[in-house]
Amino acid sequence: MSGLGYASPVTRRYAVAIAGGGQLARMMHQAAIPLGIDVKLLAEGPDVSAAQVIPDSTVGDYRDLDTLKALVDGTDVLTFDHEHVPTRHLDELAKTVAVRPGAAALVFAQDKALMRERMAGLGVACPAFAVCETEAELVAFGESQGWPIIAKTSRGGYDGKGVWKLDGPGEADIPFDGLKHESAGERVRIVAEEFIDFARELSAIVVRSPSGQVVAYPISETVQTDGICVETTTPAPGLDPDRAAGLQEMAIRIAGELGVVGVLAVELMEARDGRIVVNELAMRPHNTGHWTIDGARTSQFENHIRAVLDLPLGSPELRDPVVVMTNVLGGAEEDLTEALRHVFARDRAIRVHLYGKEVKPGRKVGHVTALGTDLDDVRRRAHHAARYLMGDHDA
Ligand SMILES: Nc1ncnc2c1ncn2[C@@H]1O[C@H](COP(=O)(O)OP(=O)(O)OP(=O)(O)O)[C@@H](O)[C@H]1O
Ligand SMILES: [Mg+2]
Repeated sequence: MSGLGYASPVTRRYAVAIAGGGQLARMMHQAAIPLGIDVKLLAEGPDVSAAQVIPDSTVGDYRDLDTLKALVDGTDVLTFDHEHVPTRHLDELAKTVAVRPGAAALVFAQDKALMRERMAGLGVACPAFAVCETEAELVAFGESQGWPIIAKTSRGGYDGKGVWKLDGPGEADIPFDGLKHESAGERVRIVAEEFIDFARELSAIVVRSPSGQVVAYPISETVQTDGICVETTTPAPGLDPDRAAGLQEMAIRIAGELGVVGVLAVELMEARDGRIVVNELAMRPHNTGHWTIDGARTSQFENHIRAVLDLPLGSPELRDPVVVMTNVLGGAEEDLTEALRHVFARDRAIRVHLYGKEVKPGRKVGHVTALGTDLDDVRRRAHHAARYLMGDHDA
């Protein structure tokens, strides 16, 4: 009995297990804090981005079933910072804990060959493609399609690693060179795709809960350099509102058909001929949704946490008419925090997120977000802050 005369409440707190300790886990934790939700982390090392800030962190291998079992012990749900946890482990874990997104959905973010086949089956617009086991099949696709073509490993690629543009049959050996035909017990193949001469890339982000509630964020224009997302602009400039709504509906449909729980990011390419086709799917908070932390009523990270716990989802609406997010990539400046004085003095409204990662050339170490009404002005502010943080003091 407490001094106030009633039994002290037994507080039952939600606990979310996250496999993978990158910046996505760090930002999920950040979203969980004000909701009183505990996060338990399985990290790749003691110093990775999320392990620096989550007290309940252990270091271990996400490919080891016993390590994963210890991770989910005492938690309500398992979710992910990355898509590389082996499917057979997820099936095993699902016997004792909610796994969200589940293995049956996640496989379409893990395996680009299965994703292409499934999207084609759903009638979703995709580049022409062929799943190839041999160099000869890849050459045959290039000959029938016309060069150049794009080749991708079906599994294990990220940030453009595992994606090649092939200009002719003489290059068909490149994707097979050193290819491990098996990754974590799963078959790896080469997906050949029609080369899309795109005018720009877009991203459709939706969040779906197990009860079937879905929210769709406005469509973003995204810029990838060397396979790494460097910038997003939301809403995508010049995109016809009906077309944007159609893309949101498509993403909602994909999320429902695949049974996704949590964030689904649909990466899109807008070809110069006007076609918009699906590039790939991600089932976790996505770099092209980082703008939502400062630019939307509810961030993708909070909605992901809410979704995996089957809590009602929050509004995806914009806070300002234009939102630009620019990634901070490792550059000349090693001490990022030193630049904050200048960046904040220059722009009182700029939002800065640093991930605590050691600066290495080209590595994602943070992002900045600028909000406003004038696109050019908002872009200029985001560029200035990101470049200055990267060590370009003439920015
Ligand atoms: N069929 C295509 N035609 C032209 N460009 C393409 C095609 N497929 C992919 N690309 C380009 O390559 C980039 C990387 O491809 P993809 O997203 O499949 O690889 P990834 O390494 O898995 O990337 P991520 O970091 O998003 O996981 C795309 O963002 C796009 O710029
Ligand atoms: Mg991609």
